[in-house]
Amino acid sequence: MYTVPKLDDYSPDALDRAVAELLRSLEDESAALHDESAYKAFRDRWLARKNGVLTQVNDTWLKAAPGPAKRDVGQRVNALKARVEATIERAHEKLHASSADAKFAEERLDITLPGLHRPIGVRHPILRAMDEMVAVFKAMGYSIGEGPEVETDYYNFESLNFPPNHPARDTQDTLFIAGQDAKPLRERLLLRTHTSPVQIRTMEQQPPPVRIVIPGKVHRNDPLDATHSPVFHQIEGLAVDTNITFCDLKGTLDHAMKAFFGSSVKTRFYPSFFPFTEPSADMQVSCIFCGGKGCRKCKFSGWIELLGCGMVDPNVFEFVKENGYDSSKISGFAFGMGVERIAILKYEVEEIQLFYEGDVRFLEQFA
Ligand code: PHE
Repeated sequence: MYTVPKLDDYSPDALDRAVAELLRSLEDESAALHDESAYKAFRDRWLARKNGVLTQVNDTWLKAAPGPAKRDVGQRVNALKARVEATIERAHEKLHASSADAKFAEERLDITLPGLHRPIGVRHPILRAMDEMVAVFKAMGYSIGEGPEVETDYYNFESLNFPPNHPARDTQDTLFIAGQDAKPLRERLLLRTHTSPVQIRTMEQQPPPVRIVIPGKVHRNDPLDATHSPVFHQIEGLAVDTNITFCDLKGTLDHAMKAFFGSSVKTRFYPSFFPFTEPSADMQVSCIFCGGKGCRKCKFSGWIELLGCGMVDPNVFEFVKENGYDSSKISGFAFGMGVERIAILKYEVEEIQLFYEGDVRFLEQFA
């Protein structure tokens, strides 16, 4: 506890010196304040009614002063009191101003910094090609379907008019699920080799008319090379109604190719074979790269083979006859296209592997 010294000399000089002494410690203490608790201790030390410096000055100086000196002492004590109060007030203001400054400094935000750049992901080019092609058919009134990737022999082959042991099965390079031998052939599981099994699944669910596209993943026992992958994607199409003809098939696919690749693309249809379509065709488009003149990409033919298609074979309708598919009353067409194929052409990709490697330098070109 600070004690104000007693005065024995009440001359104006001695009084001034005593006051100056107190003011020095007042200034020193106030300059050293850095936080709220130090400020409070400082304030109390000078202002507390009980034993505060001003109270002591009042008691030890003023009250004890001999009569003639009272006036001089009184004036100085009043001036001192004013100085103390002003100093304490300034200290208070300074402390609060500086803590606000510190807060502002801490919260300071430099809005000119570039910030963290998080690149936004985009749809994978395979899914993008798939979406774009599906959208073309959606605009023609087609609905969209899906089916399982693990399929039975029945849906993948039998109901699509591939008889057991028929050589056409060999064209599909099927990956079979192991341990199925105890089951009857039609129940054995395999990885679907095409999206065509969803044709039958759709017709089992829904009587004619049908207009549907079915995008999905398929598997074949193909070694990986520049144009083949054991896992790839297809888009199946199926339209069944009264009076559907090969003309509808050609017109629909020609429109779809023009909508997808651009209106200058031409299509042509070549005889082919699939067990589930009759007649069957391969559709070719004029080469996207040379416009049909002939280049390395189209092997100098001017044409690129893109998909298989045909009129639904009446034998296929037999499997869903009970659901209103009477081949004497209705007809239909179907097609199946490889999504990687159309993506390679549309985005001018050199190798199919690029789609599966996940190399950001490749993928970011689609952002
Ligand atoms: N599913 C056949 C394939 O993968 C393509 C196809 C679909 C052919 C529909 C005709 C009709 O090769």
